[in-house]
Amino acid sequence: MKKILVTGGLGFIGSHTVVELQNEGFEVVIIDDLSNSSLDVLKGISSITGKTPNYENIDLKEKALVEQFFQKHKDISGVIHFAASKAVGESVQMPLHYYENNLNTLIYTLKEVIGLDESNFIFSSSCTVYGQAEEMPITEKAPVQPAESPYGNTKQIGEEIIMDTCYVNPELNAIALRYFNPIGAHPSAKIGELPIGVPQNLVPYITQTAAGLRECLSVFGNDYPTEDGTCIRDYIHVVDLAKAHVVALQRLLNGKNTSNFESFNIGTGVGSSVLEVIKTFERVSGQSLNYIFAPRRQGDVISAYAHTEKANKILGWKAVLTLDDAIRSAWHWEKQIRNI
Ligand code: UD1
Repeated sequence: MKKILVTGGLGFIGSHTVVELQNEGFEVVIIDDLSNSSLDVLKGISSITGKTPNYENIDLKEKALVEQFFQKHKDISGVIHFAASKAVGESVQMPLHYYENNLNTLIYTLKEVIGLDESNFIFSSSCTVYGQAEEMPITEKAPVQPAESPYGNTKQIGEEIIMDTCYVNPELNAIALRYFNPIGAHPSAKIGELPIGVPQNLVPYITQTAAGLRECLSVFGNDYPTEDGTCIRDYIHVVDLAKAHVVALQRLLNGKNTSNFESFNIGTGVGSSVLEVIKTFERVSGQSLNYIFAPRRQGDVISAYAHTEKANKILGWKAVLTLDDAIRSAWHWEKQIRNI
């Protein structure tokens, strides 16, 4: 049984990936500092898979602790690195915190991965690297644009750090997965997204509004040059996204990669407008949603959805769950945590 380290494994995407790794027979070790997660997630994972993953509370900014951890776990065959801060607005207010956290944790982890017998590394990147791409759907060949926020910049710099490190370390094999908009929850409703404070992202804001925690959703802008005037995004079910990590890891473990740094878009290939997401929520939940139109949000691109051919053909991965599935699972999860 191969041992895989998942940093940030108690977070939203990390926890779903741990479940899929365990389902595929991997032994998982989680590192998480609980800065944006809780130990309850470990219980959720165990009750889905019947296996409790090993867990260590380590702050990956503490270089000595990272070194000590890898000394103890020389038999790790792959690392999936999620641990990072991810709030775009907060990153504008606290740039140094974002650069310190997202880059140091990456550097210290990567240094140790190079020393392993099997140096396989999966990086959590984002479609934010493309900014407002000129052509839709967005292929991996679309140029990386200057980042709109320190958060986005940490993803771009993160990819560059890994690429440069791969160049001089041929034994290191890495894949960057560029996620579009991850939403939804595990169908069991035992794990899901747990935003701290007021959600910044659309789907948690919708479900919290429907659950009565928020009064009204503001739709940011209805005068965009799109069919209904609202922005278009590619919303991907977190379970499909989690499976993409397992497939990417298996590609590296089986030596199927054709270059030691590869990147893939992970999305559905389907663009949905904010109003379409709201309508989908209303249909699958049977509830009407309180919303108003508000001014545009600074930094939002008009449209972003993935060209998925590279992931389909090369990775052998395809999103199979629909927007309906994702919204239904997000609502199921929200109702479960609010006892509705
Ligand atoms: C955001 C980040 C992106 C990050 C991703 C992580 C920005 C500009 N981008 O993506 O870098 O990787 O989160 O999940 O912040 N919307 C509303 N009302 C709301 C919230 C959102 O109308 O209360 C709209 C937005 O204007 C946007 C769409 O919903 O058109 C999706 O927004 P969101 O869920 O925040 O994701 P992104 O902005 O696409």
